Amino acid sequence: MFEKNPVCQLLNIQYPIIQGGMVWVSGWRLASAVSNAGGLGVIGAGSMTPELLLHHISQCKTATNLPFGVNIPLIYKHSDEFIKICVDENVPVVITSAGNPKTYTNTLKQNGIKVIHVVSSTTFAQKAQEAGVDAIVAEGFEAGGHNGREETTTFVLLPSVVRSVSIPVIAAGGIATGQQMLATFVLGAHGVQIGTRFIATYEASAHENFKKIIIEAKEGDTFLCLKKLVPTRLYKNRLFIQIQELENKGASVSELLEFLGSNKSRLGIFEGDVENGMLEVGQNVSIIDKILSAKEIIDEIITDFKKTYNNLKF
Ligand SMILES: Cc1cc2nc3c(=O)[nH]c(=O)nc-3n(C[C@H](O)[C@H](O)[C@H](O)COP(=O)(O)O)c2cc1C
Repeated sequence: MFEKNPVCQLLNIQYPIIQGGMVWVSGWRLASAVSNAGGLGVIGAGSMTPELLLHHISQCKTATNLPFGVNIPLIYKHSDEFIKICVDENVPVVITSAGNPKTYTNTLKQNGIKVIHVVSSTTFAQKAQEAGVDAIVAEGFEAGGHNGREETTTFVLLPSVVRSVSIPVIAAGGIATGQQMLATFVLGAHGVQIGTRFIATYEASAHENFKKIIIEAKEGDTFLCLKKLVPTRLYKNRLFIQIQELENKGASVSELLEFLGSNKSRLGIFEGDVENGMLEVGQNVSIIDKILSAKEIIDEIITDFKKTYNNLKF
């Protein structure tokens, strides 16, 4: 079914499913499991030091012979070193986010690396295409983690981006099932990037307390906050309520930064303090109800995609 799919052809993968790079969640275990199951597994460099990234790349190469990627959020301080490591290690795919795609795209492509950039608006999609990236992830307001300022939903963003660029478009934000994946294809996507659903896997490095939140959370349990800093979708825990109170009082950027301090994501996602840590999750958390292996998730999504396509009735 996906033999001629442009994302599969570009990335040399079986299914057009990319596992989104996630701080403190997607190390080599998750990335290699996703790649071995036919998708593109992605190591999230955002929470790593350069040494740790090198370790994860090397472990990933041992665990899979198939293509995998590295996600580099360009707002973090180690970007130059991360790019150099990806080039030296011949990483097949780099997915950049939260920054200017012009900065590294040429260097990566000259070294034979496929480049994908994550955007939250049509304007940024056009800029990414101009910068020469191979494909775009169009990520809507439903997504977990950092988010677009304009709050454009996947349902609206996707057709607009598809209309405005000529390179493959990968949908992200709110996708957890085969039915949702099929809906994005109807809107013109050639692939999907899925984050939150892959937290609920045995292979994710997230703390068990966080995984428990993922399978228990209900509709309405996530909110976008921190628009003055970097808009971020979070699970509504004690930390979120404190942030909300500060924002309602009109806290300045420096007051918010002082309150947050450092490593709140590590505290929540990796160390499992689910009240005082920052828990990045997408809206689709409400439809995730069990922990599975990455392979079980991919098989289920592909089966449901095909079944729904074949049974569509009007
Ligand atoms: C816990 C968590 C951490 C994330 N970290 C990153 C990151 O480091 N870099 C990035 O580009 N996107 C990051 N994202 C976004 C995902 O890669 C993905 O695009 C998004 O989760 C897709 O939306 P979904 O959560 O609705 O599936 C993160 C998302 C989550 C839930």
